[in-house]
Order: sequence, then structure tokens, then C-alpha cells
Amino acid sequence: MTPEIARTGHEVSAASAEAVKPQLSPNQARAPLFEAMRDYAKKDMAAFHTPGHKQGQGMDPEFRATVGDGMLRMDLCELPEVDNLHDPDHVIKEAQELAAEAFGADTTFFLVNGSTTGNNTMVMTVCDPGDKLIIPRNAHKSVLGGLILSGAKPAYMRPVWDDDLCVAHGVTPEMVEAALLEHPDAKGVLVVHPTYFGGTSDLKRIADICHAHGKPLLVDEAHGPHLHFHPALPVSGIEAGADMVVQSTHKIISGMTQASMLHVRNGLVNVNRVRNVLQLIHSTSPNYILMASLDTARRQMATQGKALLEQTIAIAEDARRRLNAIPGVYVFGRERATSGGLHDLDVTKLTINVTGLGMTGFQALDILNEQFNIQSEMATLHNVLLIVTIGNPQSDLDRVVDAFTFLSAQAERLGSMGLSALPTGLPMPDKLPVAKLTPREAFFAPTDTIPFEASEGRICSEIVAPYPPGIPILAPGEVITKDLIAYLQVVHQMGGFINGPEDVRLHTIKVVAE
Ligand SMILES: Cc1ncc(COP(=O)(O)O)c(C=O)c1O
Repeated sequence: MTPEIARTGHEVSAASAEAVKPQLSPNQARAPLFEAMRDYAKKDMAAFHTPGHKQGQGMDPEFRATVGDGMLRMDLCELPEVDNLHDPDHVIKEAQELAAEAFGADTTFFLVNGSTTGNNTMVMTVCDPGDKLIIPRNAHKSVLGGLILSGAKPAYMRPVWDDDLCVAHGVTPEMVEAALLEHPDAKGVLVVHPTYFGGTSDLKRIADICHAHGKPLLVDEAHGPHLHFHPALPVSGIEAGADMVVQSTHKIISGMTQASMLHVRNGLVNVNRVRNVLQLIHSTSPNYILMASLDTARRQMATQGKALLEQTIAIAEDARRRLNAIPGVYVFGRERATSGGLHDLDVTKLTINVTGLGMTGFQALDILNEQFNIQSEMATLHNVLLIVTIGNPQSDLDRVVDAFTFLSAQAERLGSMGLSALPTGLPMPDKLPVAKLTPREAFFAPTDTIPFEASEGRICSEIVAPYPPGIPILAPGEVITKDLIAYLQVVHQMGGFINGPEDVRLHTIKVVAE
């Protein structure tokens, strides 16, 4: 063990790194960027460079006292000692190479504006203006952002909607095959893996299908940076054969907020183009603390990931079991991952269906927050989603079980349990709306804001994604129909939350000006 590593509290050694992943180099126990920054922060330098607070000395005193000197001393810029993200040649280069090795990629890029930058980059790497990309209808809006930036067109696949669970899963290999046959000119396929709720598609088969058609598979793995490090979790994108994979290191493992990674496999993707796109959209002043957290998050996963995740999986599964014993509560598990859009499940996600308690997911989220100091990730009409990670102690899960035990008893006493008339979700409209403009054309067109109920026949310039189903019903460039207006009004009336448009109550909508 190096003395530097001992000081950080990461009790790791080359030997333990090897024990976890025999194929990894002993250097996985190091964090070259973090170490260089830590050493620099100890120096007594007269600083005449950005950032202006000069390692905390000029910082607002309350901010400084709250955040701490340690963090501020490491808020550095492209100094010779700590390398340059845009042209790395020592510690950032080494840190990215170690990340590539740990995650099984050929090349890894550190991202400082989240997976949003990664999705933008993936799309802009494979698509020129006018090109087509096959994407699921429930792709994150940053994928749409990539289409707007690149000028490419989406060819949509509709993810599997689960009526019982009231959540959307992934796409099936058959859907990918059909989309590739229908759109042989597409430049690639992008899938979400896992979904917010932890569901995964049969990614290996999907990768094989894409490659049989000579197309790259791009994976939005924002919610899956941990998958690679424990065999009981679903296969990771890179392991499944994907060509580009973006991960929100900050969402699920120990990156700081906004810290993400983009992994690339050689072959179907032009790595130089990835570099060029990142030069275009990345800040020229990337935050070093975020990048250092990527370096240490990788070290932590490479050296201790399996053991840490073992514990996380155990407490999540235990909580799932205990929650399922509470009347009115249902948390689906791996037993449901038997087919199609739900091929496997990341069991560290707890999707708690609260319909049996006679409340909506939105109400449950508020009650957990206000009465029990439990902050959930998000809610849908029927579910509350909890993300369990290596940062959650057993006691957090105990609090959740206690809260639901109390809520269930209360619901029983009040007689409201099981009385809920919540619909299981409206069937999605049969057909996707007709697109008259590309997302880019609709985005840059002049717009009018008009009453939603009077918008029939107009071209939408916003995303409209109600929960349920959490899948965009309208996207920029698509024509609004009478049926869609009626559908969205019903979703709204039954308590659904409309995500995407400026007016989330849908009294008005932005359309392309005539
Ligand atoms: C599936 C998915 N992809 C991409 C993103 C964007 O990630 P980030 O917040 O790291 O920019 C999110 C964010 O919630 C997401 O859920």
C-alpha cells in the first residue's frame, strides 16, 4: 500500500486489486489525477491563474467555512502538474487509461457535464445533418439534444410498456431487428440500459443484431456504471459488445454530481471524431474536483467494487423481501425479468408500487420526505423509486421498511387500503405521431404559445412526456392530433405528471409558428 493511498482512507493495495479482478493491472490501486492534485494542493504557491478564489483564499468566508479548505485547495485549472482534459498527456491520460481498463473499454473519456454531454457526443459522433438514428421513444432528452445539435432524425422504437407494474421497460432484440430492416440507412442504434427502474434488455443479442447489420450500438448506461463490477448485476454495455457507452458515475457510484464517463470500443466508431465533438461541447475549464472524483470512483470500483456491491445488493434484496411482506406494498424483483423488454433487473433499484396503500406515488414521495425524512429518487403515478447504492447503510433501508409498515397500518386503520381507483395506465396511443420537421428544424423555428386544446394540426416544438408512461407522447417536429390532445388531458386529469413542456399543466403548448 502506498502511503498516499493510506492517507485518503482507501485501504487498498495492488494485491487486493488483483484479488478482485485478476486481469486488472496493479496500477488500479492508484488514482494519478487525484494524487497529483492532492500533492499540488499541499504546495505553497503564489497563484496568478484562474479560478479567482485562489484555492479558497478569496472565497466568501461562509462558503469557505462550510465547504472546507481541503476541497477549495483542490479547485485547480490546467496547470502543468495536473494535465489538460482537452489534450491530456500525463495524469489525466493515465487516469482515463486506467478507467478504460477497469470498465473494459478501449478508450475512456472523462465528462464534466454529466451523461448529457455523453449522449450529445454519441449522437454527434455517428450522425451528420440529415442522418437517421434508431432510438427508443423513452430516450433521455439529452439524446434529443444530440439530434438537435447534429441535425439528425430519429427513427423511434416503442419500449415495452408493463401494464401490471405501470413502468416502461427496454426494447426487445426483435424490435431492434425490425427497426434496422425498416431503416437500413440508419447510422446506428441507441438503447437505454438499464432503465430508471433497473430493467435491462437482452443487450448481447441487440449488440449482435446491430453488428450483423454493420451498425454501431450506442448505450445510455447513465444508471449502470456499477454493472461491470458485480456478477449478480446485469451485463454492462461494454461487456455486451456495445460500441459506445455513457455512464453517470455520479448517479450510482461515487463520482461528484456531473461527473460521467464515455467508454468507446474500437471498430465501428471513429475515436478522433469523439475527441473533436468533445472539444466542441466540453467546457474549456473542466472542474478538476469532478475529474478527480472520476479517478477515485474508478479506483474504488476496480479494487473494492465487488465487495461493496455485494453488501449493497444484499441490503437492497433484504429490503425488497421485507417491503413485499407489508400489506399493500409491492416491489418487483428479478423473478419478473423473464422476457423481452425486461430481460434482467438491477436489483439495487427499488420500485415501490403503492397503489395498494390507496395513494399515488407522488403522495408517497411527499409523505416519505415530510414525515419520515426519506428522500426518494422520483415517483410516478403508481410507484416511488429508491436508488440504493454503496453509500446507503443498512439503517437507511430499515427506515424505509419502518415507514411503509407505519403507512400500511395507517391505511388499514383508515380503511383506504385497496380502495384506490387508480387506473393501471392508459394504453399508449397505437401510432407514433407524424413528424413534419426534424427536431432541429422544430427547435430553431419561430414558435407560438397557444392553448393546448386548440393545438390540433399544429407542429409541436416541445417534448411532452407524461408519467405514466414516462414516454414522450409528442416530440419536437411532430403534428398534434385531436386524439393526442384527448389522451394527454385524461393523463393529466387522473393525476399524471407531464414532463417536458414549459407549461407542465398543459394549458398551453409551444408550437411552430405558421
Ligand atoms: C437515462 C438517462 N440518460 C441520461 C441522463 C443525463 O445524465 P446526467 O444527469 O448525468 O447529465 C439521465 C439523467 O437523469 C438519464 O436518466
